Amino acid sequence: MTRRKYVVGNWKMNGLSEAIGEAQAIFAAAGEYPAVDVAICPPFTLIGAMAAAAAGRTVGGQDCHSAASGAFTGSVAAPMLADIGASLVIVGHSERREGFGESDADVCAKAEAGLAAGLSVILCVGEPRDVRESGGAIDFVLAQIAGSVPGEFDPARLAIAYEPIWAIGTGLVPTVGDVAAIHGAIRGALAARFGGKAEDMRILYGGSVNGENAAELLDAGDVDGALVGGASLTAAKFVPIIAAAADL
Ligand code: 13P
Repeated sequence: MTRRKYVVGNWKMNGLSEAIGEAQAIFAAAGEYPAVDVAICPPFTLIGAMAAAAAGRTVGGQDCHSAASGAFTGSVAAPMLADIGASLVIVGHSERREGFGESDADVCAKAEAGLAAGLSVILCVGEPRDVRESGGAIDFVLAQIAGSVPGEFDPARLAIAYEPIWAIGTGLVPTVGDVAAIHGAIRGALAARFGGKAEDMRILYGGSVNGENAAELLDAGDVDGALVGGASLTAAKFVPIIAAAADL
């Protein structure tokens, strides 16, 4: 099957109510590129308003708890995301793995919770700079894949995002060849474990994607889209990335 291009904005901890207008502008412009699936993952506080303002568009969370409910002060459960109009959740972002001590097992449990709540899931992996420099990036990422991808899933609802930590927010990006090599290795590992399902799964690249480098990165082998941080916050910066995906 042909995998549809997928361009997702991760707003991280950015955006007050006034940012809903920017999301509407992004989704309106995205309507010009029907071949690309576009989603925005704002902070929890904006999900409900954004989903209401952009009916039929994909709005997601940036994290969820692995339990469906319970005594977990401050946490948000996957069914709660679905309840306020989210249809997607990001799990295992490096800012959660590193900053909040999330293990592969935690990420796997969160992915399972998202899928069980009917959400689509983007599961993030990616190596730190020292691992890249010592030549261990592929092994590191494949170990994360082995430990955090659930055993059962619908491939249409589980995407992987490869985000090298050293490329996030730094303006540094891997070479197109390095991106293709690691995405190919990820798909190979998924195929070894899940067979033909791996061909239907989308693998996104993330880390300093912008309007200038998107075409080249999105054209790399086994790259099915982009997970975008800083450049997803405004229509002016995000729409050129969506347009680049549409051109491929
Ligand atoms: P930047 O696009 O700001 O580098 O962030 C990437 C990212 O972490 C998306 O999840």
